[in-house]
This record gives sequence, structure tokens and C-alpha cells, in this order.
Amino acid sequence: MITGKFPNLRLRRSRKNDWSRRLVEENNLTSNDFILPIFLIDGKNKKQSIKSMPGVYRFSLDKIEFVIDKAIKKGLPTIALFPYTDNKKKDLLGSEALNEDNLVCKAIQLIKKKFKNEIGIMCDVALDPYTSHGHDGILKNNYVTNDETVKILIKQSLLQAQMGCDIIAPSDMMDGRIGEIRKSLDKNGYQMVQILSYAVKYASSFYGPFRDAVGSKGLLKGNKKNYQMDFRNSNEALREVSLDIKEGADMVMVKPGLPYLDIIKLIKDNFKIPVVAYQVSGEYSLLTNGVDKNLIDNGVILESLISFKRAGANAIVSYYADKLDKILK
Ligand code: PBG
Repeated sequence: MITGKFPNLRLRRSRKNDWSRRLVEENNLTSNDFILPIFLIDGKNKKQSIKSMPGVYRFSLDKIEFVIDKAIKKGLPTIALFPYTDNKKKDLLGSEALNEDNLVCKAIQLIKKKFKNEIGIMCDVALDPYTSHGHDGILKNNYVTNDETVKILIKQSLLQAQMGCDIIAPSDMMDGRIGEIRKSLDKNGYQMVQILSYAVKYASSFYGPFRDAVGSKGLLKGNKKNYQMDFRNSNEALREVSLDIKEGADMVMVKPGLPYLDIIKLIKDNFKIPVVAYQVSGEYSLLTNGVDKNLIDNGVILESLISFKRAGANAIVSYYADKLDKILK
């Protein structure tokens, strides 16, 4: 509301000095606002670069202690684990998801043993890193079946909880899975394990580099439009969130991030649940490759990240989370 008129009111007054800009700033970022994704790969002594994501790596488990130690020193509250799975371990049912010796399970145990509760661990629940067709669930007549998939996701969630995962993050977009996963966690004594639902996940072309990072790139048959959300819709996002809240989600995710700031705001205006934005791989690639080094130093990344806070996000999953020293300086 503008009261008074020129020249009584000069909005430039409070912008004039740095101290004053700091005094009236409406949003800010700290390391507490970030979740760092970490890609895991089999083998020893590996720090593998990912072509489409400069500055992001896949790490073998013997490097994990070092990676987590750095994350803790940087003040990050949570990391998210994503496995690169060898094609040999993939099958139609994504069986490797339920192998208690899989990469994610081993990583959770290692991290918990060494770092206890110094940092939170979040794990995706979905079958796409493990299926030979790259889809998030079980295919029947070329269609991802909902209820059969949910049965497997319940087991995947329980396994991750047993290993010590703190935040179960279903990213599969099956209907009804949050309620079923909550029930099963509670029944088995994991009442305090949180659920961060990828409630609003769009069928997006911005996930390309991630699929490269987890090794599902060439495999995906068709697309995910018949289970992930249509990017032309926003009312539907509210319906998804309201269902997941009723089913017991502790937090909800909007994904991708930057093209969906309106959705973050819409959800925040309608529900008072913590909202997490996922600045996805395609956004990272665009920002990292698309602007020259000088522009990054001059704040392009910071400007993009602050927009999530302005829209109402409580936290951001970002591949920049381990590079904040430079970005927030
Ligand atoms: C798995 C999953 C995806 C991403 C996170 N979890 C890919 C997909 O759904 O195809 C994408 C993350 C990114 O692009 O950074 N379901």
C-alpha cells in the first residue's frame, strides 16, 4: 500500500546504503535452507564427473565420509542420496531397490555409524534408478501400474528406514502411496521417520542431466506423462498437496523449481506446510553452462536461489548446496 505521494515518499531512500538495504531485506539465504544431493557409484576411490553437470560428481562409498564431513562443516542440515546403478543390476521390477546391500542402504549405514544425527539423510522412493525401462514403477501393457508399484514402494521405504534414513521422499507420483508408506512405517516402529512427499512433480524435460547422473538416460521408454503432473496445470497441484497432507506428509516438494515459482507460492498461500523446492539438474546445467563464470560470480545463482525463498519455499534441494561459500559471500 503506497501512502503519501512524491516527493514525500521516495522508495529509493531505503535502498541508498548497504546497511539500510540489509535492514529492510525481506528474504535471505543461509546454509540451513539447503539439501545437498549426492550421487553414489559402485567401486573404489571414485570421484566421477558428470558431463552435463560441471562441478557435480558421483562418489564411491569410500569417499562418502569425506563428502559428508564437508557437508556438515558447511552447515548443511540434510543430504539426499541417489544411486548410479549398473545396467547389469537393473530388471523389469527394479528388484535392486529391495536389496539390503544396495548402494543407498550401504551409504545410509556408513553415514549413520560415523555421523549419528549430525546431518539428516533423505532418500528417494521410486524404482527408476533400478528398472531396465527407466520408469518409476512396474509396467503392465506399457503402463505404470499404481497399486502394484505402491506395494513395492512400501517395502523400499521400510528398508531405507531400517537402515537409518531420516526422511523418506517418495518421488514416484503413484496415488495413495504416502498414506500406505506412513501406515507401514508406524506399524514397524518408525513413527519418527519423516516423509517429504514429492507431491507436485511435473513430467518435465528439465530432468535430463539427472537421468545421465543415475544412468537411466538411454533406457527410458517413452515419457512419464501418465503419472507425473502436466505442466499446464496448477489447480491439480493443490489437490495433490491436500491429499498428501491428509495421508500424513510432513513436508511437500515442488519440482522442478524455477519454472514453477507460481506453484510454490500457490501452495504456501493455501497450506501452512513446509514446502521444499527442487532446483533440478536441467536448471543447474542451464545456469552453470549458460552464463559465463563472471556472471555466476556476480550473483546469477544467488538471484535464482533467493526467488525460491521469495515464493515461499522453506528449503531448496540444489546442486549448488556445496558451493554456497562462493554464492552467498
Ligand atoms: C526419480 C527422480 C528424478 C529426479 C529426482 N528423483 C527423475 C525423474 O523422475 O525422472 C530428478 C532430479 C533432477 O533432475 O535433478 N524419480
